[in-house]
Amino acid sequence: MKVLVTGGAGFIGSHIVEELIDSHYEVVVVDNLVTGHMKNLLPQVKFYNQDIRKNLDDLFAKEKPDYVIHQAAQVSVSQSFTDPLYDCEENIVATLNILQSSAKHKVKKVVFASTAAVYGNPSYLPIDEAHHVQPISFYGLTKAHAEKYIKLFAHTHNLEFSILRYANVFGPRQDAHGEAGVVALFIEKLIRGEPPVIFGDGKQTRDFVFVKDVARANVAALENGKNEIFNIGTGQETSINEIIDQLAITLGRPIQATLHEAREGDIRSSVLQNYRAQSMLRWEPCYSLREGLLQTVQFYKQENPYGFQEVIS
Ligand SMILES: NC(=O)c1ccc[n+]([C@@H]2O[C@H](COP(=O)([O-])OP(=O)(O)OC[C@H]3O[C@@H](n4cnc5c(N)ncnc54)[C@H](O)[C@@H]3O)[C@@H](O)[C@H]2O)c1
Repeated sequence: MKVLVTGGAGFIGSHIVEELIDSHYEVVVVDNLVTGHMKNLLPQVKFYNQDIRKNLDDLFAKEKPDYVIHQAAQVSVSQSFTDPLYDCEENIVATLNILQSSAKHKVKKVVFASTAAVYGNPSYLPIDEAHHVQPISFYGLTKAHAEKYIKLFAHTHNLEFSILRYANVFGPRQDAHGEAGVVALFIEKLIRGEPPVIFGDGKQTRDFVFVKDVARANVAALENGKNEIFNIGTGQETSINEIIDQLAITLGRPIQATLHEAREGDIRSSVLQNYRAQSMLRWEPCYSLREGLLQTVQFYKQENPYGFQEVIS
């Protein structure tokens, strides 16, 4: 079976590609490298350096993918405010383009990378898939609209889908910018010998899911869970202070963070319930926070030959 991965040279997409290869799928990647990198891709993977906002019929006609895993997107919440038009083209128009080509070329299923940002401020925790969708960023809004296009396409074109709403993904290859890259941000600061910056008191919580677990969820979604939405998170609330403590344990030395004033509009607590993914995708996260952070720190140590500098506080 052949899988086309959009955004396969990116952080999450590149881990999905590896998981697919391990599961014996044939993989083709399309990516314009706007934030992705060739070094993230295994050399045996067939790669198209193309923009998915442009017509993809030739690519689909040539490759005839059985499945599409659609990761390519504008992923920065802050950029969605400064350039909402680009965010809309990337997250809605490009998704529509993928749906049209997928329907035309009889793709069996499209798996879509959505986000917990579609929920906005949670009314209750843990957030389940029945929670209202009320985004408070343009990024959340465009992802929520892309979901609606996907659902309507399923009706009008008989195109099967799975929508995966990711929590805060972390792990090797994450850039220190973009959506919810707090782990990568902290590690980048520590490499430079600078104290990590916490906005607020650090007691705010998030659901940190390891990237290899997210990759497994995407592969599980190819075969399971027809036309459903799934939360992909751990179900565990972790505070920003706990992340600092765990990084200190992993690095074997104390970390002195700098506290800044809380940012306006930041959500206090967020955690996703993952029961539906457990029962219908037969997926659950395997990596503990500690194991995930260990693998992430090891990756950045290899990438930075001078290692982690002592924090100057
Ligand atoms: N990182 C997270 O915590 C998180 C959380 C929720 C959802 N998501 C979603 O997961 C997906 C992957 O995110 P990521 O963190 O790996 O980001 P990323 O920026 O590392 O990956 C996105 C990839 O898409 C490519 N791309 C972007 N626009 C393109 C275009 N027009 N044509 C072709 N390629 C294009 C980029 O070059 C990059 O390789 C996104 O859809 C994102 O919205 C991420």
